[in-house]
Amino acid sequence: MIVRTAILELLKHNSGQYISGEDISHTLQVSRTAVWKHIRALKLDGYEIEAHPRLGYALRQNTDRLLPAEIKEQLTSTVLGREIHYFSELDSTNNEAKKLAANGCPEGTIVVAEAQVTGRGRLARGWFSPHGKGIWLSVVLRPPFNPMDAAKCTLMAAVGVNRAINAVTGAGCGIKWPNDILWQGRKVVGILTEMSAEMDAINHIVIGMGINVNIEQQEFPSEIAATATSLAVASGCQVSRVKLLTTILSELETVYNSVKNAGFAPVLADWKTQSITLGQQVDVHGIDRSFGGVAIDIDVDGALLIETTQGIERVLAGDVSIRPASPQ
Ligand code: BTN
Repeated sequence: MIVRTAILELLKHNSGQYISGEDISHTLQVSRTAVWKHIRALKLDGYEIEAHPRLGYALRQNTDRLLPAEIKEQLTSTVLGREIHYFSELDSTNNEAKKLAANGCPEGTIVVAEAQVTGRGRLARGWFSPHGKGIWLSVVLRPPFNPMDAAKCTLMAAVGVNRAINAVTGAGCGIKWPNDILWQGRKVVGILTEMSAEMDAINHIVIGMGINVNIEQQEFPSEIAATATSLAVASGCQVSRVKLLTTILSELETVYNSVKNAGFAPVLADWKTQSITLGQQVDVHGIDRSFGGVAIDIDVDGALLIETTQGIERVLAGDVSIRPASPQ
């Protein structure tokens, strides 16, 4: 692996120019056959490498896979993403992250997969996770917070992710309570937070993020085609998943540090500025009842406050849908 990484570095350093197999083997003190085998493995990892019988090898296109080496090259966060578990395919990155967390992995460990077979969403729903088209990511945190504050971690994550996607794509997405990220009314990001805690302390939190990055509109299954979209559709161009992933980790780390230093108030204020729910007519579908009203605020616990004909209702969990504006 060290030799492969070194070959890749030589190819990248040569910025598209050919470098001969002989030069590589001489520089790295390995046989020509070993060079050839590593080049073949790099091609399987998605790097486009041109081989010329006389001139040698030239890197034509970097891989778009979320390989740990590519992530590390662009990583600016100091804790989040320092330990990376990468899979071509998984049942669910949250399942894997929960196992790692229970076995004592360090805070900031991430699990990322190119595809999920049984990606999970909130309220026991599934999550469409096609190969190489999104970011299916789970982050392990060990926050020194009271378990009662866990729900606010979800809002915190939404703020970090929304900042990152708007910075990278300029798409102009907003947050629907509690933590969906939407573009023009369609969902581009879902967040599933799962916690292990004692009565008075959190063992760990797994923040699972599903980000629809380069999915074409017609690729969504019919059940979600009208309600989901992707950042590529929103921004009109393909988005670098590695750039987006590393920006998400950096922004998430910034909001997490802010909460640890200054409490949740600044992040909740930020959430409000990014919200597309506040001021809207909404319908709430709870476990035991459904009602409608105007979403007027979130309180210090992150609960959504809804003005109804019966007074103010406080919603801590459930499904909230925004009513489409009626024609004038
Ligand atoms: C939602 O219902 O909106 C939440 C969706 C969360 C999906 C992500 S994809 C990565 C992580 N692994 C999972 O199985 N789910 C979350």
